Amino acid sequence: MVREEGDEFSRQVEEVPLSFLPDGEVLIKVSYAGLNYKDALSAAGHKGVTRKYPHTPGVDASGVVEKSSSSEFSPGQEVIVTSFDLGMNTKGGFAEYISVPAGWVVPLPEGLTLKDAMIMGTAAFTAALALHKMEKSGQNPEMGELVVTGASGGVGSMAVAILAKRGYRVIASSGKQEHYAWLKSIGAKRCISREEANDESGRPLMAAKWAGGIDTVGGNTLATLIKSCGKEGSVAVCGLVGSHELQTTVYPFILNGVNVLGVDSAETPIQLRKKIWQKLATDYRPGGLAEMGKIVDLEEIPDYMDEILGGETAGRIVAKIA
Ligand SMILES: NC(=O)c1ccc[n+]([C@@H]2O[C@H](COP(=O)([O-])OP(=O)(O)OC[C@H]3O[C@@H](n4cnc5c(N)ncnc54)[C@H](OP(=O)(O)O)[C@@H]3O)[C@@H](O)[C@H]2O)c1
Repeated sequence: MVREEGDEFSRQVEEVPLSFLPDGEVLIKVSYAGLNYKDALSAAGHKGVTRKYPHTPGVDASGVVEKSSSSEFSPGQEVIVTSFDLGMNTKGGFAEYISVPAGWVVPLPEGLTLKDAMIMGTAAFTAALALHKMEKSGQNPEMGELVVTGASGGVGSMAVAILAKRGYRVIASSGKQEHYAWLKSIGAKRCISREEANDESGRPLMAAKWAGGIDTVGGNTLATLIKSCGKEGSVAVCGLVGSHELQTTVYPFILNGVNVLGVDSAETPIQLRKKIWQKLATDYRPGGLAEMGKIVDLEEIPDYMDEILGGETAGRIVAKIA
């Protein structure tokens, strides 16, 4: 529970009645909840994410249907809910129960466990959506290496693993040299520093360094990915951990045909959402999934929120709730 007290936001585990939850169509007993950058923003009182407190963050949850007024779902069914408004202005997954509209709920695809689904969570969903859009725009492994920025983070590490699974050679850009070996173990062919993906020369166009990329950093790093991208390559824009700004010229677009693709996992329509989860259970499913998530208790979540905001964590952190 995050409570607003003056300028401060406190975080603690509390017991509250079910009536604390909105009156959704599907009541779900949460098994696992994934921890994300957006949750850390919500837990820190970021009003762009959560307007009103007290609030329970948690944009990702997997669990078992307890009660449903929708004929689409029945008690006992295993399901996933990620994003839409969950954890933002709807009480989220860092709780024993969530109550949500039926239109937000995805049946757990065959071949995935509730734990697998949260090790992947919004992070893998976002990376998969990025790749789906890139491939729709013509990206393929023959075009050359793809770069992933913020590679040791949730979205970044899932992007590395999913791209490798799909046969791409991946350059992982990370500020954490101590994680280079791990990034290679999950699929990176080579690792580069954050600085190598952050060109300060001011030149509008660079020699091609990669055939495309998935960016979680924004700002000058995103601008560098775009101006160093090979012909007809795609750069997927996922995040803003570095900056929300983007300064570029038109040259990469009119001289190299570079595509910049926006990725909005939160509002992905339910049919596409089910399709992406199906891919995550099959041809996009990263190898070594079990080793990609650290499992923690509900009580440990508050401390991890600061570590996530500080960019100190690596890979996915998943809370075991039930
Ligand atoms: N578009 C969408 O639908 C969508 C969905 C999910 C998340 N996101 C966004 O994607 C971003 C990443 O989310 P996440 O959950 O993966 O976060 P995360 O697990 O905290 O990972 C972020 C990573 O970015 C790098 N980083 C942190 N601070 C940085 C800085 N100042 N400059 C450069 N790199 C920095 C770090 O990796 P290294 O140390 O390896 O460099 C860090 O591990 C966030 O902006 C989030 O809001 C967007």
